[in-house]
Amino acid sequence: MISQEMNDSLTRVGPGSDAGEVLRRYWQPAALLDELEQGRPVVPVRLLGEDLVLFRDSEGELGLIGRHCPHRGADMCFGRLEDNGLRCPFHGWHFDRNGQCVEQPGEPEGSRMHEKIKSVSYPVVEKNGIVWAYMGPGEPPAFPNFDCFRAPSSHVFAFKGLWKCNWLQALEVGIDPAHASFLHRFLQDEDSADSYGKQFRDTAADSGIPITKVLRDYPRPDISVDETDYGLRLTALRHLDNGQTHVRVTNQIFPEAISIPMSREMIITQWHVPIDDENCYWYSMFTSYTDPVDKDLMRQQRLKEHRLPDYAPLKDASNNYGYDAAEQATETYTGMGLDINVHDQWAVESLGAIQDRTQEHLGKTDIAIIRYRRMLRAAIAAVKEGRYQDLPMQKGLDLTTLFGPVSNDAIAKDGDWSKATAVADAARRAACPWDATV
Ligand code: FES
Ligand SMILES: [Fe+2]
Repeated sequence: MISQEMNDSLTRVGPGSDAGEVLRRYWQPAALLDELEQGRPVVPVRLLGEDLVLFRDSEGELGLIGRHCPHRGADMCFGRLEDNGLRCPFHGWHFDRNGQCVEQPGEPEGSRMHEKIKSVSYPVVEKNGIVWAYMGPGEPPAFPNFDCFRAPSSHVFAFKGLWKCNWLQALEVGIDPAHASFLHRFLQDEDSADSYGKQFRDTAADSGIPITKVLRDYPRPDISVDETDYGLRLTALRHLDNGQTHVRVTNQIFPEAISIPMSREMIITQWHVPIDDENCYWYSMFTSYTDPVDKDLMRQQRLKEHRLPDYAPLKDASNNYGYDAAEQATETYTGMGLDINVHDQWAVESLGAIQDRTQEHLGKTDIAIIRYRRMLRAAIAAVKEGRYQDLPMQKGLDLTTLFGPVSNDAIAKDGDWSKATAVADAARRAACPWDATV
């Protein structure tokens, strides 16, 4: 349980807010590349409580500028994409990709007023299906050499989904290894042959045991948390009756991402990105260590559950997340279908728009949540005191030397679980068609 003041400090994201100023010192997912490729490349972006517009100019370069025109505030999302920039339809003021006003066609001939007019603008880069924005001061940091950035684009599929709640509770479900035994429990095992592109459907490495069965039969994991250069490494051990140990290694990448195994073939790296204080997007990069990802299939699977253009899930509070009491009795723990994203969405949205953490009671299995909040508090203090070099991944570390992070499920036959994880990961990397050495 924490105070209301601390809860506000950890959750609020607007300009000048405690957590918001930390988040602004890291690249943030702003849009999927898919969004720019459907129709006209002008996309509204609301990020960290700021309203922006992302567009591609005629030189093929991206600009991320203020959504409201600096003249009288009209919505630039309806702008005319012309003359290598975006022109406001209200009085024709024209802006380039850096937000500079380059023309005011209604002002007197020879006027130089436009030279002093600049919209907000943030640097953006594209990486493996996602457009990233840097909204902080100074030079943006480098990208770490994580698998999701390093794999060729053929091996990474990116998607996103809207959750109507604060970003921190969304992140906290990802660093809570205990919930999978309950929230995502399937009362029967599905055929793992039909597992492509889905989570928790594969069998644990070398065991033939469906992950669903391990999670269901062993609900009390031993969880340990280690601090790393990028954030936290979580190890969840489930000691099986036959003397073997199931090891699940997941990661928190500071400030708001997680990296988790999806199947033996793929991992998911997922950012929980604040739209504003009460809404967030998850952006996932599914990275394959074997074949190229079947992007059409994975997109189709997910578009069946989401509506465009805002990527809002079709199941939500308005239709009780598809809750079915009969299904809950016989098939799933939640009664909300087989898509585990819906389970997580219900879990995080049902906590309220911003979880009231003055009323919570954390247990031993919440250790990673406790450690993460401590890290975020330390980062907030560092930013307030100007000790920027104390922030994770900004300590003067060469980020190109940051690999992985290792995220996998493994079975230790003899109790040496750290070796089992390392062996399973090394085998996967050795067979990988792109350079996945760590
Ligand atoms: S409001 Fe945009 S040009 Fe006037
Ligand atoms: Fe989950």
